[in-house]
Amino acid sequence: MSDHLPLEYAPIAMLAIETSCDETAAAVIAETGDPARPWQIRSNVIASQTDVHREWGGVVPELASRQHVRDICGVVEAALSRAGVSFDDIGAISVTQGPGLVGSLLVGIAYAKGLAWARGLPVVPVHHLAGHIESLTLAHGELPMPSAVLVVSGGHTSLYLVASPGNYRQIARTRDDAAGEAYDKVARLLGLGYPGGPAVDKLAHQGNPRAFDFPMARLTHADRFARSATGAGVLPSDMARRVDFSFSGLKTAVLRLVRERTGTPSGKAGAAEGVGAQLSPGEIADICASFQRVVVDALLDRTFEAARWLNVRSIGIAGGVSANSHLRAEAEKRGRESGLPVFVPPLSLSTDNAAMIGAAGLRRLRSTGAGDLDFNAEAALAMQ
Ligand code: KG4
Ligand code: ZN
Repeated sequence: MSDHLPLEYAPIAMLAIETSCDETAAAVIAETGDPARPWQIRSNVIASQTDVHREWGGVVPELASRQHVRDICGVVEAALSRAGVSFDDIGAISVTQGPGLVGSLLVGIAYAKGLAWARGLPVVPVHHLAGHIESLTLAHGELPMPSAVLVVSGGHTSLYLVASPGNYRQIARTRDDAAGEAYDKVARLLGLGYPGGPAVDKLAHQGNPRAFDFPMARLTHADRFARSATGAGVLPSDMARRVDFSFSGLKTAVLRLVRERTGTPSGKAGAAEGVGAQLSPGEIADICASFQRVVVDALLDRTFEAARWLNVRSIGIAGGVSANSHLRAEAEKRGRESGLPVFVPPLSLSTDNAAMIGAAGLRRLRSTGAGDLDFNAEAALAMQ
């Protein structure tokens, strides 16, 4: 990005919409004209569906879509009114195209397209993970580049090399469960309810992180010798395999321990759901703390190893799991020790929100333009 904006560049305000999972969110993001800190949040409204899904122990896609339909108009109106603007002040719209639940994505996309058509506005489709990455720029300004950005959410655990603003290259990913998914499954096993990540995080503070020696996520022999690795070409092939993530072994180790201690016979994993609630509060806290230590070490060991090799100038950590208190503290400590600045979003921008979709939308609008209205929701959208 140049230091001087072209003369014809008139900063605009963007209305952003995010409905990929169980939050209906809308935000107004304004361009500042300052290349170092390009965007400012004017409003950021989130209607959470946690209460709708809690009794089912997780997100029910059909209920999520229906709730988005109920909430979307009110959430957009609240975003405009909190920003002190009307539709006339909006210069472009952005909306999450994927990945996510298709029925949920469709609600935001249909709304955005309808509004864009009615008002003659450009609409920018946004990749949800580009949004998480740009939450870092939104909060801190442009990161020192190149940067290694870890995106840890309920659906994804991936490491990106961001060589220049808006240029994201995936260099590692999870081979099985996402870190947030592992949190949610362990929470369900322990009867801690939904959403699981914050509950495990809270209880972990009361437990001993060394009480149980859960195995560090380890790749199987077959995985280790798999032909293609995500970061091949950027990292040496041996390291490209080593920095991939894996959390299903850890989840199984927790399941085995809980079964042993509660005398639950082995069988389908689902049958053990909630049995951990029979354990003492001290044991539950110890399991949470020990599980969390292993997850955080696995995430940070790989991120810092790749960052060192890639010789980056900063590390970013974004996505719902970046709200985790131990991950934040440990990342900051390791950053201090290694002399690498580490950036995490404020808690309000860690979990799903529309402000980050506005940031990624403005980034895309200014680099490649908006495109036309014929894009569709894509449950498994690739990054580029
Ligand atoms: O980014 P996000 O809001 O939605 C997705 O894109 O998936 O991430 C949600 C995930 C959930 O798995 C949730 O349990 C996890 O982030 N999470 C946390 C914490 N807060 C949210 N995990 C660990 N510790 C937390 N404090
Ligand atoms: Zn997310």
